Amino acid sequence: MPTMDTPQRYGTLTRALHWVVAILVIWQLTTATVTSLAEDSALDEILWATHKPIGFTILVLMVLRLSWALINHARRPASVSRLARLGHIVLYGLVLFIPTIALLRQYGSGRAFEPFGLPLMAGFESPEIEWMMTPANLLHGWLGWTLFALALGHVLMTLHHRFSRRTEDVLPRMLDVPPRQ
Ligand code: HEM
Ligand code: HEM
Repeated sequence: MPTMDTPQRYGTLTRALHWVVAILVIWQLTTATVTSLAEDSALDEILWATHKPIGFTILVLMVLRLSWALINHARRPASVSRLARLGHIVLYGLVLFIPTIALLRQYGSGRAFEPFGLPLMAGFESPEIEWMMTPANLLHGWLGWTLFALALGHVLMTLHHRFSRRTEDVLPRMLDVPPRQ
């Protein structure tokens, strides 16, 4: 299995980044759902503590993933349709933008932020920086739910391509499964 992508399938690094980010995004969905349905419950206390550090991890992985996608651009499998291509671009955009504005808000709040003990933001005493907080206050949660709806659509489209005989099965590009019979 090659590390680099080929026109037939994604390589090992693209696959690893895709599946790790997919699992972490689903984790974010779980923490966000629990906090909206059962705020301050014991489960929420445990899960919500992971939302910011995992969100930060997703952003770091996405920067790597975008760079790797650009390096492999000319040799990766062609999109099955214009809509699939657009869908993937929108997914990339959202998974980069959502944590970015959240981190901007975190900085502007003046509160320290140390994901996994890493001293990323020291915090400050002066008042909050309004312009840094506004984008996430307006958009973070809303775009987060939109991402989850699109990711669900993405999974359903993958299944459609796998089981509809009239389209190409794209799952073997991303996962070691036998091609459909
Ligand atoms: C891809 C990464 C992320 C996703 C998909 C995501 C998703 C979400 C969603 C759906 C909500 C709404 C929950 C509700 O309606 O109660 C939310 C809330 C929140 N998130 Fe994230 N998040 C991500 C990253 C981050 C990061 C990196 C931070 C901070 C460093 C953060 C901080 C917050 C905070 C403080 C809230 C509550 C305030 C609000 O709704 O804007 N998130 N997140
Ligand atoms: C957990 C269930 C998932 C399945 C079964 C799945 C399956 C796939 C498959 C088969 C492809 C290749 C499609 C093609 O080349 O036409 C793909 C690509 C892609 N998937 Fe997923 N996926 C899942 C979750 C996610 C999630 C949660 C996200 C984003 C948050 C995501 C983002 C992407 C993107 C951006 C691509 C384009 C290729 C790349 O640059 O990595 N996927 N996925």
